[in-house]
Formats: sequence, structure tokens, C-alpha cells
Amino acid sequence: MTPDPTDHGLQAIPADTVSLADYQRHAAQRMDAAAWAYLQGGAGDEQTVAANAQAWQALQLLPRVLRRTADGHTRTELLGRTLAHPLIVAPVAYQRLAHPEGELDTALAAAAQEAGFVLSTQSSTSLEDIADAVAADDFRGPLWMQLYLQPDRDFTRTLLRRAEGAGFEAIVLTVDAPVSGTRDRERRANFRLPAGVSAMNLHGMRPAPARELGPQDSALFNDLLHHAPTWDDVAWLQSQTRLPVLLKGVLRADDARQARALGVQGLIVSNHGGRTLDTVLPTARALPRIVEAVGDDLPVLVDGGIRRGTDVLKALALGARAVLIGRPCVHALATAGALGVAHALRLLRDELEAAMALSGCATLADIGPDLIDRD
Ligand code: FNR
Ligand code: LAC
Repeated sequence: MTPDPTDHGLQAIPADTVSLADYQRHAAQRMDAAAWAYLQGGAGDEQTVAANAQAWQALQLLPRVLRRTADGHTRTELLGRTLAHPLIVAPVAYQRLAHPEGELDTALAAAAQEAGFVLSTQSSTSLEDIADAVAADDFRGPLWMQLYLQPDRDFTRTLLRRAEGAGFEAIVLTVDAPVSGTRDRERRANFRLPAGVSAMNLHGMRPAPARELGPQDSALFNDLLHHAPTWDDVAWLQSQTRLPVLLKGVLRADDARQARALGVQGLIVSNHGGRTLDTVLPTARALPRIVEAVGDDLPVLVDGGIRRGTDVLKALALGARAVLIGRPCVHALATAGALGVAHALRLLRDELEAAMALSGCATLADIGPDLIDRD
């Protein structure tokens, strides 16, 4: 076949793609069935996966009219930086399952759209390769490293040094997954990582020595959970890095207050996209109580089921300082690589701008709880 001189390796965006839901539909057709089960699935009966999206949809807006919104913008301040808008790409493991370029394409797209990007500890591209590609970009959003504390604490320390050295600006400690959830969809599909997809940041790590289990011991309680992080480890982590530490996966006010007391610099209200404990409170419902508990002192961010500009507007109205987007970015990646992810983020930015204009908000400071009906 004669090479097409106009083919620059860019995958085309299907012409009917006008929303994040369209990317989900296209990705479902393109992705391998087992990889799809991993990406899309949640824990148990996936009640929380569904509830997350429904909870945003169920909130009803009360738009203001006849406000001047000309020269408005979506800029905001977060951890000492000005962001062009409050959208951040959530940490999602193993993105090479969706596209050969994996996290590299997602990070490039986020930078092109001035969005934040959080790299998973379990990324299928190394943190150094991501930083090499985007850290020097003047217009990119924040570049953060998600951390799963590893049983090998020396290795965890090395990981922190690597992230700091590469130019990551914050550490996002995930606290809602001391063990994986029971992910039935994934197990039914017999999902296994294919050859060529692995946790690139963790190569060379010593496996945790297995404990001797007595006949009545539980492999979970008597072995695995010895490595699960505790509040003491949050303090340990802060002593090991000069970067700000955020906790991801907080849903309760008392936990939020404890995090504040430890000097954590931000919280992400999250239930891991419904992938850990099923029937957990949807994040749209958890957010207001966390904001009420610590929102004056700490930036509170949120993720889970955010699919529309109106969802972003509602999150901001309930006091979130920024939002993270998980699965939709990978849907766009599977559909059209970096171009798809950039387009998906642009769609969400455009929807947010339109939602602001249509509710009389010129800036994010105008977006308050009065925009949401309370019956
Ligand atoms: C995740 N998430 C996640 N979180 C994290 O802290 N570290 C990780 O490695 C991963 N990996 C991961 C893989 C996949 C396939 C998914 C779908 C999610 C959770 C993620 O950061 C985020 O909290 C949710 O995805 C947000 O919900 P939505 O936007 O996917 O509904
Ligand atoms: C997941 C883990 C990697 O949700 O966080 O698949």
C-alpha cells in the first residue's frame, strides 16, 4: 500500500463525537473486551459507579439572568499556581491498554489543553518519560504524581526522589484502596495485563516477603494489610518529601479534619470511581460536608462521574476548587489518541464556559451554592 502523505499518525476523531458520552460509545467498540472490563468496571454491583453520575445529574440548577458575563474566564488559583480552568486528568493505571502511547498521549493532550495531569503510580509509561514530554511546557496545568505507598519503604522513598527530580509538583496519596475492591466485571472477563503493559515506575521493586500464615489466618488481614497505609504513614510521607501532599479518597468530615490537623495541603473527595467499596456515598453528596468541615483551610477537589460542563459547574457550586476526570479521558484515548483526549477536554471546557454564561457567572468566584436548588 502506498503511504498516505497526509497521515501523520494521528487517529481521526469520529465526526459524530460531540460529548464525552460519544467517546464512551466509540471506546466500547474499539477496546479489547477484557481491557474494557478493567477500565469501565467498578466494585461489586457497580452501584456507586452509577450513583456517582446520577448524583450530579440529580442536582438541579437555578441560573441567574441578565448578569454581565462579557470578559469572563475560567481561571483559578490552586496550590500557588494560576490554572486556565479547573479540569484535571485523574490518575488512571495502565493506559497502554487503551492506546499504544498510553499515558504519554494523555499527558500531551492535557498539556495542550492547559489541564492538570495526575500520573498513576501504576502507569504503563515511566514518570520520567511523562515529565520529559511535558514538564517544560509553559502553558500546561499542574503535574502531580499519585502515590500508592509500597511495602518496600526504601523503594517508596526512591519513587518520591524520582518524582521530585523529574519536576512533579505534588504527591497525591490515594487512601481509599488499602486493597483492591471485588471487581466482578473484571474477574468475569478474566482480565490480565497483556504482554507489554506493566507498572513502569515499579520495575526493580523487591516483592514484599510473604508472611507465614496459620491455618486460621486470613491472607488479607494477616498478610496483605500489614502493608496498608495508616495516618502514621501520612506523617511519614510528609517527612520524606518537600512536595505538597494531597489525600485522594476522603469521604468523611472527621477524616478531613484529621488530614488538616496533619498539615495535608489538599483533599480529593473520591470513591475511586466506584472501584473500591461498592454502595459508597456518591461524591456529589459527600462533597458539601467535606467543604463545610475544612473548605476554608484546604482546597477540596472532587472526582467520580463528572461527564458534563454542568457537572463541573455543580461541583464548583458545592465548593470544589477543581475536578478530576477519570474514565472519559481513557475513552477518548482509545478512540483517537492524544487528539481525542485534547478534544474531550476541550469539549468539557466549552461546556463549562457555556454553563457559566447560561447561569450568569463571569468567573468561578461567581459560582456559589445558590445556583443549586434545595427544594
Ligand atoms: C482509576 N483510579 C485510580 N486512582 C488512583 O489513585 N490510582 C490509580 O492507579 C487509579 N487507577 C484507575 C484505573 C482505572 C481504569 C480507573 C477507571 C480509575 C481512580 C481515578 O483516579 C478516579 O478517582 C476515578 O476514575 C474518577 O471517576 P470517573 O471520572 O472515572 O467516573
Ligand atoms: C485501579 C487501581 C490501579 O483502580 O487504582 O485499577
